[in-house]
Parts: sequence; structure tokens; C-alpha cells
Amino acid sequence: MDLSQILSQAQKEVSELKNTQQWEELYRKYLGKKGKLSDALIVLKDLTIEERKKQGQSVNRLKQELLQIFAKAQDQLKDSFESGQRFFDVSSPAVKIPQGHSHPIMQIRQQMEIIFGSLGFSVVEGPEVTSEYYNFDALNIPSDHPARDTMATFWLGQNDQRPEPTLLRTHTSAMQVPYMECHQPPFKIIIPGMVYRYEATDASHDYQFYQLEGLMIDRDISIANFKGVIDVVFQRIFNRQVRTRLRPGFFPFTEPSFEIDLSCVKCQGKGCTLCKQTGWLEIMGAGMVHPNVLRSAKLDHSGWQGFAFGMGLGRIAMIKWGIDDIRLFFSGDLRFLKQF
Ligand code: PHE
Repeated sequence: MDLSQILSQAQKEVSELKNTQQWEELYRKYLGKKGKLSDALIVLKDLTIEERKKQGQSVNRLKQELLQIFAKAQDQLKDSFESGQRFFDVSSPAVKIPQGHSHPIMQIRQQMEIIFGSLGFSVVEGPEVTSEYYNFDALNIPSDHPARDTMATFWLGQNDQRPEPTLLRTHTSAMQVPYMECHQPPFKIIIPGMVYRYEATDASHDYQFYQLEGLMIDRDISIANFKGVIDVVFQRIFNRQVRTRLRPGFFPFTEPSFEIDLSCVKCQGKGCTLCKQTGWLEIMGAGMVHPNVLRSAKLDHSGWQGFAFGMGLGRIAMIKWGIDDIRLFFSGDLRFLKQF
């Protein structure tokens, strides 16, 4: 059979293929060890050198053409669901199914839960939608209080079912009074969760961010207990020797109130760009729970006292991993998230 005949016959038969099994049989018929191409090669050895050279080139060309025809047919079968059979190459490497992992903020939250847990704190969650009362009034922030302006609020409005104004909590402190209303001290809890503020964003502010509240109420709790707790926590979170310091601050729901600074984890207090040459990093707000807050929760404030604190977990993660823009956390950008 001459070469052009082989080619045209192959073209005809390939065009009638229905499934991969037929493809394999046909492939063997033409390109297999005992296939038509081999036959054409065997004939070569009886030719003179000159003829062999010429004929050899033609056989080679035929081989390339056949390979092409079969490869094309294979691709078509692969895509074709009508063939009732999908092409499956057992030798190709398995497709790796991408696995997710926890978000950097959740990693910090988990670590915090473990560390506070080891100090006897329980984890409590609260609703993100809450009332004006729990977010503000019960925390000693009446509606004419200037502190309300510092917490620009996403109001959700009222309706028949909800006669009282509702809002997205601006801080996890909104869970303090609801918890104390139904739990008798002594207790120590942390309240992790998302909070919302109706604000313009920049590298250190986002309109939603993750906070972790702490609340410890007992008979003789002092600021020393508070400092003892946070020193251990930050030591373990940053995995190195750190110091904390208390500066006077103001929150309507604590008295006295503090801003807590952490010795810079990068320069150990010598001064660098992270701490703006001060040697200290602002890390959270805190204070001794205000008697009015205990009163809101109907606790007898003469017997019970304690401390509360609130920190942004984004801030902790930024310090820990050297991240310079808080908006990255909820940008949904996988290039960022895959690094943790
Ligand atoms: N709720 C405060 C804030 O969001 C932080 C805070 C919590 C301060 C508890 C004191 C006590 O800024």
C-alpha cells in the first residue's frame, strides 16, 4: 500500500471514531509496533541507499502526519461528552485541590483563646447587631455624651418588631452588660468579635475590624491583677520578653481608664520606625469597670469590682507580622491571605 493511501485511509477511519477505546485500537493499527507505519519502515531495508533516503523522508513525514491526526482526535474525544466516555490519563499528575486555612486574624484569636484559657478565662460571643442601650447607655455613654462622636455608628433603625434603635456594635464592650445581667461574679471572660465604625478608612482604620474584650469581676481585683494578666498574654503572643506600661486614658465605662503601651517588639524599646522612635506601641484601652456599668447590670458595685480591656486583633497581627495596612485583612486578596 502506498504511503498516501495509508494516510487517506487513516484520516477516514479517525473521522469515524466514537470513543477512546476505538482510538487506542486505531492508534495501534497505524502507529503500533506491528502497525502500518512499521510495515512501511520494514520495506525500506530492501531499497538502495538513494531510494531509502527518499522513501525514508516520506515515511517520516507520514509518521508526523499520523501523530498529528491522532493527537487532534484525542483532544476532540477528551472534550466530547457525547462519546459517553471522558478521556482519563492515569499517568498525569493528580490535580491538587487547594486547601484553605484560617485567616490571620482567626489565628491570633485562637492563640488568644488558648492563652487566656490557660489563665482561666472563658470565651463568650455576642451579637453584632445590638441595641443603643447596650452599646452606649448601659456603658455610661448617654446620648449627649461627646464620646459617642468618637464612635461613628452604623445605625440600623427601628421598626415595629424593634421599637428600640438598633446598630452594628461599635465595640465588643457592648457585650459587657448583657453578660453581667445573667452571670453572677466572680468570672473572667474574653469576648472576641467583629465591630463596625462608620468612618473613612486609612492604613490604620477600617470600617469593620476585630476586637477582643476582656472582663474580670471579683471581690478584690486591682490594677495589679490586670497588669499581671496582660504581661503574660503579650509575652506569649509575641513570644519574647515584652513590657507594658499604663498611661492615663479616658473611657466613660472605666474609672480610672488607661491606654496600654507595649515595649516595641522590633527594637526592644531603643526606637525604630515601627514605634516612631518612641520605643512603645499603643496596644489597647482598659480600665477598672465604672460603678455605673455595674449598676446597669444590677450588680452591687460595693462588693464587686474588676477590670475591662479592649484590643484590636488587627493591630496585634500587624505588629506580629509587620503588616502596614489594616485594610488588607478584609480585602479578600488571596495574594495577601496565602502568606499566613
Ligand atoms: N471599647 C473600647 C474601644 O473600643 C476599648 C475598651 C474596652 C476600653 C474596655 C476600656 C475597657 O475603644
